[in-house]
Amino acid sequence: MQKKIETVKTLLEALPFIKEFNKEIVVIKYGGSAQTSPQLKEKFAEDILLMYLVGIRPVIIHGGGSKITEMLDALSIETKFIEGQRVTTKEVMRIAEMILSGEINKDLVSLLNSHGAKAIGVSGKDAHFITAKAKDFAKWGLTGNITNVKAEVINNLMAEKFIPVIAPIAAGDEMGHPGFNINADLCASYVAKAIGANKIIFLTDTSGVLDEDKKLLDTLTKAQVKKLKSDGTIHGGMVPKVDACLEAINGGVKKAHIIDGRLEHSMLLELFTSEGIGTQIVK
Ligand SMILES: Nc1ncnc2c1ncn2[C@@H]1O[C@H](COP(=O)(O)OP(=O)(O)OP(=O)(O)O)[C@@H](O)[C@H]1O
Ligand SMILES: [Mg+2]
Repeated sequence: MQKKIETVKTLLEALPFIKEFNKEIVVIKYGGSAQTSPQLKEKFAEDILLMYLVGIRPVIIHGGGSKITEMLDALSIETKFIEGQRVTTKEVMRIAEMILSGEINKDLVSLLNSHGAKAIGVSGKDAHFITAKAKDFAKWGLTGNITNVKAEVINNLMAEKFIPVIAPIAAGDEMGHPGFNINADLCASYVAKAIGANKIIFLTDTSGVLDEDKKLLDTLTKAQVKKLKSDGTIHGGMVPKVDACLEAINGGVKKAHIIDGRLEHSMLLELFTSEGIGTQIVK
């Protein structure tokens, strides 16, 4: 009996947060680094389902850079990065689309649906809802910068109670264009801005943004981000992530968090407890 009372107490503790986020849109960037074990993926699916069932409207954007690199290696195609961004030749674009839209997206959609969700997978090419142009074709090929997000596509899916799962691929404007490979972190923030998300959460493979002594920074401002980037404390895959957080909060998203995807139920800890976890980027 005591145990049951504890369960009820726990539920009641979450009540203010459930109220706060009722009908709010929460965008989740599910990093490739956080998708490592089948067990973690199960927990992720449970968290999304719980969020959905208490009235939150989740929208998922997934990454998958390491799987693209794995496949390129298997096919003996060279992987090249310039300034942390993948060089996307036409051949690499084909593989990126196969892995992102074909494999990872469908895996994630199936996983969520097998848990009882109504998830639907799309990429920016579906209904042409994300368009891009080349960042610098001579340098990065088909790696794109987003030029437009048609919010109504995602809004319509949410209105029909779907959980949209988005692969970070954009359509090009010209007829027959192979499309663009876009950074998943920035894709998440552009989508979050366009659909008026309340919150954006980046699930990754560190406890958050770490300082030079590897200590977790629980809050970061724009000025701090600038400094940590310029002295190299924030580097590699963390650069687009903090940029994406700033992009989101400048675009009207209320809160941006970078949290540990290796930690079971980290999203629920962030959403439904007063302490929160990871790093919060503030205006
Ligand atoms: N100051 C920092 N604090 C924490 N991590 C950092 C920092 N600077 C760089 N990093 C690196 O950023 C990585 C996270 O970005 P990464 O792009 O690898 O993952 P992801 O975005 O979650 O996955 P994917 O790119 O596949 O979607 C960390 O594993 C770490 O190596
Ligand atoms: Mg990344």
